[in-house]
Amino acid sequence: MTRRSEVTGALRVNSEIYPERPPGFVLHEHGADSVLHCDDVPLTKLAERYGTPLYVYSATTIHERLAAFEKAFRNVPHTICYSVKANSNVSILRLLARQGCGFDVVSGGELERLLAAGHRRARKIVFSGVGKSRDEMTAALKAGILLFNVESESELLALAECAARLRKVARVAVRVNPDVAADTHPYISTGLHKHKFGVPIGSARTLYAKASGMQYLKVAGVSVHIGSQITDVAPFAEAVARVADFVRELRVDGHKVDYVDTGGGLGIAYQKPGLEFAEYVASYARAVTNPLRGLNVHLLLEPGRSIVGPAGVLVTSVLYRKENDGKRFLVVDAAMNDLIRPALYNAYHEIVPVVQSKDLSAKRETVDVVGPVCESGDFFARDRELPRVEEGALLAILDAGAYGMVLASNYNTRPRPAEVLVTRKSVKVIRRREKIRELYSAEL
Ligand code: LLP
Repeated sequence: MTRRSEVTGALRVNSEIYPERPPGFVLHEHGADSVLHCDDVPLTKLAERYGTPLYVYSATTIHERLAAFEKAFRNVPHTICYSVKANSNVSILRLLARQGCGFDVVSGGELERLLAAGHRRARKIVFSGVGKSRDEMTAALKAGILLFNVESESELLALAECAARLRKVARVAVRVNPDVAADTHPYISTGLHKHKFGVPIGSARTLYAKASGMQYLKVAGVSVHIGSQITDVAPFAEAVARVADFVRELRVDGHKVDYVDTGGGLGIAYQKPGLEFAEYVASYARAVTNPLRGLNVHLLLEPGRSIVGPAGVLVTSVLYRKENDGKRFLVVDAAMNDLIRPALYNAYHEIVPVVQSKDLSAKRETVDVVGPVCESGDFFARDRELPRVEEGALLAILDAGAYGMVLASNYNTRPRPAEVLVTRKSVKVIRRREKIRELYSAEL
């Protein structure tokens, strides 16, 4: 077996540098070739059995990453509330729940998934989001969740109304907007006053005063989330420092603040080599916990991508090779409807052939990797240098475990891929491939 190194970004196979970000995905030597495996299972075998495009997840990797979070925060009272939006497959939710994880939901749908997955520990669920409906709030109140992260005065009033109707107390935190800039894609940055999220710290105080005057609301915490795919820990420290000051102010005002929810957002190394994960998450833990020292609060964390992102790949087959006036394309059977991140954010995903020649003189070429959907935005890579692969070859699009399948659609009436979860040698289909007739069966 070939050596693996967490987020170091490179794996040496016979001295050829080979990108290896997702640690659950490793090349094993196989005759003259090397074959990419998920845990102990060759991706060739999975593609043959379940077809492509196919999402493949490593349960071991998900376990290891959650464990790394738990370890990094072990010295402070905390609950990891995995952000369900990143990957909401019920089998993955179950796997995390079995490890004691809590959850962050942003819709009644996500809450229902958790309950369907058998998650009965509602006291480990927080509800975030800028537009919770009354029905969604009512469902969450009935379930008895830990905390509502409220984002406006109108929402606070709606929650008070729902809680009063049920005669159930809603624990609330106001999501404050710390006005901290984080270096990430503009679509997923949230911590500036120009964004729709949260309440400016300056005006949040009056909301707390209002909340504490309402019979069925209980002020319980403060929450913040500054954006996603943030790989520098400094903006987290800055945001939490502002929150810490705010907690002190609130306490002076007489509020009981038991929880600080610092949101999610820790990025992963899609492209550049990064730190070893345990070390990286430890530096994040220092950034988040240092400003809270002495405040005696229970910390809530909402990581999504950093838990599941590197634990998944999208396996696709090369349908056709094509050349237009010297420009080369690999047309694959996955498309933007299966994984929209490149089309939507111009996101980079490493792409590797599943079967690699060990021959060092093997040809390389510059190609665009594109899908069959009728849009020029339907690409996975542009002008990317890859080892030459022929029609019928399999490619793995790496780091696709987060915001992959959850954002998949049926555009062009394409059935969404199947998903399989690998635990060492064992394979479980956790979502079967959709059938075309299911895609129009609800239409009249
Ligand atoms: N908590 C809140 C309130 C959030 O809005 C988010 C993500 C998270 C936690 C989890 O953040 P994470 O740890 O996964 O960064 N579709 C985009 C990402 C959107 C993130 C939205 N909010 C992408 O594919 O990059």
